[in-house]
This record gives sequence, C-alpha cells and structure tokens, in this order.
Amino acid sequence: MEPESSVQDPEENKYTSVCVGREDDIKKSERMTAVVHDREVVIFYHKGEYHAMDIRCYHSGGPLHLGEIEDFDGRPCIVCPWHKYKITLATGEGLYQSINPKDPSAKPKWCSKGIKQRIHAVSVDNGNIYVTLSREPFRCDSDFYATGDFRVIQSSS
Ligand code: FES
Repeated sequence: MEPESSVQDPEENKYTSVCVGREDDIKKSERMTAVVHDREVVIFYHKGEYHAMDIRCYHSGGPLHLGEIEDFDGRPCIVCPWHKYKITLATGEGLYQSINPKDPSAKPKWCSKGIKQRIHAVSVDNGNIYVTLSREPFRCDSDFYATGDFRVIQSSS
C-alpha cells in the first residue's frame, strides 16, 4: 500500500522554522534561548546580526548562553564560560592561537580547528524571530551534546 502523500515525514518536520520570540525582546537582551524541535539553541543579537547555535559547547557541554562575546582576529566569538574556548558566531569554528616553537620571536597566530559548533539559520518576519535547524550532513562536535543522553529536553514523540 502506498503511503498517503499528505502524511509528512517526521524527519522533514524537524527542519521547519520555529518562532522563538520577538525581535524587540532580543534586541534588548541581546540573547535568548529556545528549544527548536527538541534541540536547545541560543540566539545572539550582536552588532545588528542574529546568530543561532547549539547551546552546549562542543568541548564539554558548557552553557554558551552564559558566555561573553569578544572579537578574536576580527571575528566575533562566544567565549565558553567553562574553559574559555572561542567559537565564531558566524560559522561555529573553534579558534585557537598557535606559535611556531622553532621561532620564539614569532607572534601567536589565530587558527581555526574547523566547524565545531552547529550553526542554525535565523530569520525575521513581521517582528518575530524564527530558527530553522541546520541540516548540514557533516557531523559537528556539538551534536554530541545536543542529542542522545546529553540532551536535557526529552523528546515528546
Ligand atoms: Fe566549553 Fe570546555 S565546555 S570550553
């Protein structure tokens, strides 16, 4: 028997946008937390731009919504309050400083570990903020703390 075409795939439902709050509110608080299809996210409003990412740090699950935002190498980053890892707001890259041990006079250089924190899409419509979960197929380190046993919010399904 053919499945009814009107029945939506639950996997697809996870990628519908969810209203998380009002633009006026996040502009005042500059951050908010939300649960989007059972995934906890933090949304930052920084210098006129919105950024959403998994709320728990890719390193050990630290609470990124309690971190400070600072620029490193000209890139705005959330600094995890637990061990001070730096994560770019725009891309979710982990940044670190490296130095060439063979050249002690060299200045430390900012480098990227690659994308570590999953970034989600934010849109604004009629004063409401919407988040759409990332469906990028690569495995992100932050997925570990956003799913399975580490997920605080339990699935209602
Ligand atoms: Fe975030 Fe360790 S848990 S830096």
